[in-house]
Amino acid sequence: MASQLRLGTSLALVTGAGSGLGRAISVRLAREGAAVAACDLDGAAAQETVRLMSWPRSKEGAFPRAHAAFQTDVSEAGAARRLLEQVQASFSRPPSVVVSCAGITRDEFLIHMSEEDWDKVIAVNLKGIFLVTRAAAQALVSNGCHGSIINISSIIGKVGNVGQTNYAASKAGVIGLTQTVARELGRYGIRCNSVLPGFILTPMTQKVPQKVIDKVTGMIPMGHMGDPEDVADVVAFLASEDSGYITGASVEVTGTEAPEAGAGRERVEKWNPEQMRKIVPFHRLVSQGNPRRRV
Ligand SMILES: NC(=O)c1ccc[n+]([C@@H]2O[C@H](COP(=O)([O-])OP(=O)(O)OC[C@H]3O[C@@H](n4cnc5c(N)ncnc54)[C@H](O)[C@@H]3O)[C@@H](O)[C@H]2O)c1
Repeated sequence: MASQLRLGTSLALVTGAGSGLGRAISVRLAREGAAVAACDLDGAAAQETVRLMSWPRSKEGAFPRAHAAFQTDVSEAGAARRLLEQVQASFSRPPSVVVSCAGITRDEFLIHMSEEDWDKVIAVNLKGIFLVTRAAAQALVSNGCHGSIINISSIIGKVGNVGQTNYAASKAGVIGLTQTVARELGRYGIRCNSVLPGFILTPMTQKVPQKVIDKVTGMIPMGHMGDPEDVADVVAFLASEDSGYITGASVEVTGTEAPEAGAGRERVEKWNPEQMRKIVPFHRLVSQGNPRRRV
């Protein structure tokens, strides 16, 4: 819970705002005083996030600002530019905080992975972040505004994961893109950092059987999976001036250092195929299952 309104003058654009981490981040930034432009491929889900942010609050946790929802496919050429134009038209200024959270998985072993699944994941997770970051940077620089850009990567981008060559490559790409953007835009007062979540509880993972959750939790020294709010806390810090001298960083939110793949594999190999099927689609850190072949 925020103890102060660190973002009282900020306009934040959040992609993937209709679910999971993006929704939690939107609510957290609003609670810190930001006006939020909530963008998602699913326009109704983005609207629902706006409704949640507009819910009347107590004095301490007031959501005093107007928010707005936008339906956008971040992977579509031209859509990011139009999104920035729409946001600026709605709020009369460019967003000073930009959080790229939209992401997908299409899991498969390398030897069976189709070009289509490779291209789709790269298009949303990596090209989408390029398009949004470029459009936001152009708007900020041309308006002479400072800003903080936060790209949601994954610990998978650092350590890899069986069945996720496309996802791991996209998330590793986000780290490199972010470091380079930080070097290019520092002179304009624009910071750019990435966040690398590990095992985070989302509405999807809450459907996983308790036995499987217990196995996953057993790998985490902190003893539990993360909550979306754990990631939102870090994003709020990176969005605020409390992190004013941090740029180009990759902040891990995993409850631990990444476990060695071998250690994880030993545990995972003991799981039955049904457990594998449920684990892999959640792009978890260490897995051996092939969701399409083991169902
Ligand atoms: N949940 C985790 O454990 C975890 C771990 C590491 C990284 N991440 C990353 O965090 C981000 C959010 O994950 P999540 O668990 O909240 O997933 P989620 O599926 O709950 O939410 C993703 C959102 O992105 C939206 N989206 C998908 N494609 C889009 C597109 N082309 N344009 C605009 N919006 C699009 C979806 O509609 C959805 O609302 C993703 O980038 C994911 O890779 C999640």
